[in-house]
Amino acid sequence: LQTEIEAEIAAASDLTALDAVRVSALGKTGRISGLLKTLGALPPEERKATGAAINAVRDQVQAALDARKDVLEAEHLTKRLESERVDLSLPSAPRAKGGVHPTMQVMDEMIAIFADMGFEVAEGPDIEDDFHNFTALNFPEKHPAREMHDTFFFNPGADGTRKLLRTHTSPVQIRTMISGKPPFRLIVPGRVFRNDSDQTHTPMFHQIEGLVIDKTIHMGHLKWVFDTFIARFFETDKVITQFRPHHFPFTEPSAEMDVRYTRNGNELKIGDGDKWMEILGSGMVHPNVLTACGIDPNEYQGFAFGMGVDRLAMLKYGVPDLRDMFAADTRWLNHYGFSG
Ligand code: PHE
Repeated sequence: LQTEIEAEIAAASDLTALDAVRVSALGKTGRISGLLKTLGALPPEERKATGAAINAVRDQVQAALDARKDVLEAEHLTKRLESERVDLSLPSAPRAKGGVHPTMQVMDEMIAIFADMGFEVAEGPDIEDDFHNFTALNFPEKHPAREMHDTFFFNPGADGTRKLLRTHTSPVQIRTMISGKPPFRLIVPGRVFRNDSDQTHTPMFHQIEGLVIDKTIHMGHLKWVFDTFIARFFETDKVITQFRPHHFPFTEPSAEMDVRYTRNGNELKIGDGDKWMEILGSGMVHPNVLTACGIDPNEYQGFAFGMGVDRLAMLKYGVPDLRDMFAADTRWLNHYGFSG
């Protein structure tokens, strides 16, 4: 019986099989326990020797079981270690990364260039009132210039006045001049809103306003700031620009600046071509605007400008349609290298 059981123990290939052998040998109704129960039927003089012999078998079987158990447990552990091993040299699975939106990247670049020139940054609210967005900027009451901005108005409030989404960053000129004292040299990055949409217009877009007020500021300073800015921003001397007279109620004289470009199907390039893209409006701050802000136009003068951030991004990165900028399509962002 001992040989038989020991053969079974050796053949047990895992811990479950080994336990089955243990139960069938040493369990309450097992084979060795069965032998012990026969002792009672033996004559007393044989009982002692037989009992000792059975106990010896039982101990050996138990020892064989224990030994086999150690072996099987060790094997089991080795297998687990093999199968659950972590390969630390394996590169991790690729993960999607967020990125800074192209407009915000360009905004940061622009702010850095202006900061180098000594401009400080000011900000104002997206929701404006008529006074700051129009009236203080010398827009005549009921003048078509107000309509020219395709303004988004809110419903009138209890006092009958309606708030609006600012159509440009120029209201921040008013806010800073009213609350501060000249001289001023500041830029205002921000969002602006107009009801307009085509390849070069979106209902929400970004501007950087500039304002420089001091005693002897003139158009030459304005032109120098633009030329310096353009050269630094595009990092090339290939950009062709033109400076063109224009009209704004809040500047006199006024001018816009355009950049030469071509559009070839899905490609947009600067440097040559047959098209002009307007990138900024500017001029010498109108005396009425200074007066509205409590500044004496006989003592102080200066210039202001408003640059189209998204359009500068289009030109710099060759983006043919401005509307794609705000479509939140990650394939587009990847194509232009704007995400992880
Ligand atoms: N606010 C004007 C616009 O959005 C741009 C501008 C700013 C022009 C400052 C002159 C001076 O069109």
